[in-house]
Amino acid sequence: MAMKVGVIGAGSISEFHLKAYMNNPDVELYAICDLNEERAKEKAAKYGIKFVHTNYEEMLQDPELEAVSVCTWNNTHAPISIAALNAGKHVLSEKPLCKTVDEALRVEEAVKKSNKVFQIGYVRRYEPSTNVLKSFIDSGDLGEIYYAKASYIRRLGNPGGWFADKERSGGGPLIDLGVHIIDICWYLMGKPKVKSVSGNVYQKLGNRSNIQNLSFYKAADYDPNVNTVEDMANALVRFENGASIFVDVSFTAHAKKDEISLKLYGDKGGAEVDPNLVIMSEKHDTILNTEPQVDPISADYAVPFQNEINHFIECCKTGNRPISPIEDGVEMMKILCGIYESSEKKSEIHFNTEPQPV
Ligand SMILES: NC(=O)c1ccc[n+]([C@@H]2O[C@H](COP(=O)([O-])OP(=O)(O)OC[C@H]3O[C@@H](n4cnc5c(N)ncnc54)[C@H](O)[C@@H]3O)[C@@H](O)[C@H]2O)c1
Repeated sequence: MAMKVGVIGAGSISEFHLKAYMNNPDVELYAICDLNEERAKEKAAKYGIKFVHTNYEEMLQDPELEAVSVCTWNNTHAPISIAALNAGKHVLSEKPLCKTVDEALRVEEAVKKSNKVFQIGYVRRYEPSTNVLKSFIDSGDLGEIYYAKASYIRRLGNPGGWFADKERSGGGPLIDLGVHIIDICWYLMGKPKVKSVSGNVYQKLGNRSNIQNLSFYKAADYDPNVNTVEDMANALVRFENGASIFVDVSFTAHAKKDEISLKLYGDKGGAEVDPNLVIMSEKHDTILNTEPQVDPISADYAVPFQNEINHFIECCKTGNRPISPIEDGVEMMKILCGIYESSEKKSEIHFNTEPQPV
């Protein structure tokens, strides 16, 4: 029997979830919920969804509903995820897990109590090129990865609306874009334990909504009038095994063009993930740059979302642990919140559980 799935939040990203569920033969798209009833009704009509709600608590009371995607503003991820788990539903939550470490720990507690599947939507983990690179890394081709450098620079791309309202988003490009690129480096590095972070957050240019003739991703309720988030952030993340990640991100900056780059450096080889996968190595005293023939990351965003959702449904059916489990959401919240705190305090933040030598 097909699993009955509901989607909470019917804005921009829900479209990727809905399409992917629709393509999965083991799923019945059963319910949809949005504060904006018209928006929920539109999706219901488009995808043939039976039940429309404007209150997620009401939706979760339906015993037939088995699993939900949480596609709402960041400040609601934790309360909705916890309510859904407590109601006995499997949960796929969009990134970031939530806004604070405290909330993250509360979601983790609810996952443990519920015995339900909880998957965090780190969609980049479900990219075909990520999986190709991971198979090279798992076979030891890069050796020990000791450094990663990740950059996600938008010259103009503050999505406005709730994204730009710190109360609802938890922050700007760091929590929105940084979460993806820090996560993918950390995942490919074998998820070392974070030791410390040092970060800088800048609010210099505003959202530059005055700029004409350049289009960019916008929240469903785009509104340029509120902007309480940073334009740019950078950070150095150190891990207990000695590895480190340097990251910089922006919603807007005086950059020549948008840029996403992810580079990993190991003691046997290196890799560039964006824009195309390249693996660097050495053989017979010669440096080799190998280009695995896989689709570039931006070729079709629907592909990783389809993989993410197929994996979620598979885990719900088998009880398997997802490849992006709750613990990875908690560790990422420690990193992201640590970077904000470091910038505020203008000093490095340490996560050591062991006492520090004086
Ligand atoms: N994985 C990715 O690459 C990716 C890309 C974009 C956005 N996202 C994430 O997806 C989430 C949604 O982003 P978006 O771009 O779709 O935003 P959006 O503004 O387009 O849509 C959000 C929707 O959630 C609804 N909503 C908010 N609170 C609600 C509640 N309590 N109950 C019901 N509905 C509620 C809003 O009315 C809105 O329609 C965010 O957490 C964002 O970080 C992920």
